[in-house]
Amino acid sequence: MKNTGIKLLENGRRLDGRSPKDMRSIKIIPNPIKNAGGSAYMEWGKNKVVAAVYGPSEALPRHTANPDKAVIKCRYMMAPFSSEEGHGRVGMNRRAIEISKVTAEVFENVVILDQFPGTEINIYVEVLQSDGGTRAAGITCAAVAMALSGIPMKDLPYAISVGKVGEDIILDLDKIEDNYSDADMPVAILPRTDSVALLQMDGTMSKTQFDTAMQMVLDAGKIISKLQKDALMSQYTEQGKKYG
Ligand code: CDP
Repeated sequence: MKNTGIKLLENGRRLDGRSPKDMRSIKIIPNPIKNAGGSAYMEWGKNKVVAAVYGPSEALPRHTANPDKAVIKCRYMMAPFSSEEGHGRVGMNRRAIEISKVTAEVFENVVILDQFPGTEINIYVEVLQSDGGTRAAGITCAAVAMALSGIPMKDLPYAISVGKVGEDIILDLDKIEDNYSDADMPVAILPRTDSVALLQMDGTMSKTQFDTAMQMVLDAGKIISKLQKDALMSQYTEQGKKYG
């Protein structure tokens, strides 16, 4: 482990009491933003994220249009008050541009773009409170928003991060783990085929550690996918109508 003096894992327990394989709790509320085509609010541990999808609409400025298919545009932002450290107060920075880009790329792989030539589909992800893993939460939340908007997709992506403390693999890193772990790997998955739509890596893992990490992602994915589908289904039940 990096020599920080912070023990992220002791006697098989993490600082917040989780075991290496435990995920933080997740809650998803469908369609909180009435003006959007589809939207979702998500709490993932201490992260609070809203995603809203607009479009398809004419791609503007016109030079951004593709005559053969829709273009996906994404804006990920952290609210100025979202972080204890105040890092989020700088508006659109290099990190936000990167996360916006990788989020758009996930959806370029699932949305059936050629049904909407010349148009743009806008995904907005706003992080209201952050505690590590906000890009994963944003993608997972935006997938629900996209589905609720009725835009056809081949699959319902989810994302989660996995990492390494010493030689141990841990799932769903919170901020302190993200900052001080030996590796941090956000992954987005298309669950029908378990194909990888995003994989970023800060640090290194052996092949065996990587395989363990990916298996943890796929196991957690079953739970995350179910929560996404429950949120979608709730729109069509009595319980869902109170949000609708
Ligand atoms: O959020 P995610 O793990 O996808 O991205 P990160 O760049 O690895 O950031 C990890 C965490 O650090 C974020 O979730 C925030 O809690 C915090 N952070 C922050 O407070 N201010 C920043 N400018 C960047 C990160």
